Amino acid sequence: MRDLSARWLTPGDPQSTSAALTSQFRQIYGAEPSGLFFAPGRANLNGEHIDFHGGRCLPMALPHGTYVAAAPRFDGMLRLRTLDPELDTGVVEIPDAAALPAPVTAPSWTTYVSGVLWALVQAGNEYPELHLGEGFGADLLICSTLPIGGGLSSSASLECAAALAFVGIGSPLGAEHAGEGLTRALTDERRAVLAKVCIRAEVEAVGAGTGGLDQNTALRAEAGKLVSLDCRDFSLQRTDLTALLEDYCFLAVDTGQPHELVDGQFAARRAEAEAAAAVLGVERLRDALPESPSEHDVELVLETFDRSVAQGAEMGGRDADACRRRLRHALTEMLRSGQLHLLFTALASGIAGVDHTAEVVGRIMNEGHASMRDYAEVSFTLADQVVDTVLSAGALGARLIGGGFGGSVLVLAPRRQVEKITTAAARLSPRIRFLAAIPSAPARVV
Ligand code: GLA
Repeated sequence: MRDLSARWLTPGDPQSTSAALTSQFRQIYGAEPSGLFFAPGRANLNGEHIDFHGGRCLPMALPHGTYVAAAPRFDGMLRLRTLDPELDTGVVEIPDAAALPAPVTAPSWTTYVSGVLWALVQAGNEYPELHLGEGFGADLLICSTLPIGGGLSSSASLECAAALAFVGIGSPLGAEHAGEGLTRALTDERRAVLAKVCIRAEVEAVGAGTGGLDQNTALRAEAGKLVSLDCRDFSLQRTDLTALLEDYCFLAVDTGQPHELVDGQFAARRAEAEAAAAVLGVERLRDALPESPSEHDVELVLETFDRSVAQGAEMGGRDADACRRRLRHALTEMLRSGQLHLLFTALASGIAGVDHTAEVVGRIMNEGHASMRDYAEVSFTLADQVVDTVLSAGALGARLIGGGFGGSVLVLAPRRQVEKITTAAARLSPRIRFLAAIPSAPARVV
């Protein structure tokens, strides 16, 4: 059998990554970094394209993510450099960085960082412990162990690592809790505030209409656990996956086809679903369903939609059939999230067995993929092929995750089948890479 080791993207060892980043920081900026920070990417078992409708998502943080080495400046300037060979254009200077980032003046990835600085400065008015001093700026060196645009939340991991860096080197909270003390000082409540800051940066500064799944996961996940995130208020529960992960594992198949959420397609899907919400007279689609929805509830909502459309409901010029498909995806995805939430609660209390859980999770993942393909219409040929191939090779479940139009497929596999599954998937494209999706710790000081 061909050696697949080169196809695995490993998260690397945090200590040696930090040491290498520190020495490069010295070379590039001629000074020591004051701190090193890390925020993970995420995989999501279910709950795609519903965070912005107040739905429930079932994510975990990955061991892979973004490292940031940082030192403060006092002239209001941000200097940024990424070590990603595809994005690196040398040190980018952004003067007056706390102002709302002006588009086009710097490479687009830098807006994820300058946007966070801007949003954090705003948040400092409400949370004095996060207040960044007058003229705060920073030198940052960035490297990522995630595929960029791979649907594993590389952008939110950059935002969250940058947020931690700014807090660590510039705020009263960072001054009070040096080094790893800051990781402990970042309570879930504080992390939720930072998640809001990063969401604001992504929505208002970057202009991507995303919904908060990624930032809450990067900042608030827990090692060994699956998160059940209610995006109505971002309250969450965490379930231990240790027992499940003895015989089964999750792996992400990066198709090598990158996506771009700032482009029109993601926004168009969201707008169509929102048009359906308007027809139903609800602010968020989650409000169209009862607290614990059933399939019957989904059918009732679809019937209501059909009746309103037949009576000539205003669709803002959008195609009613397309809006209905987005609606159907959102509603069934919410149903699946509800089922998984209950299933993991049952697993935690010992009511559901491990094999039963794995089987049902697999089935729900497959249904999720079909909905992403047929109703959200965000899948693409290679993702569909990966799903079919890994299922034929013995996976229990597989689905496209993230925003779609490129990105990764999450797979649930019996451990003993992993080699067979990856061998089969690797044949589909030379660009395919694998990542072990091990539920990992959230953003932290390294
Ligand atoms: C991207 C966005 C998230 C979410 C997913 C789709 O990752 O950043 O907010 O909308 O797509 O579920």
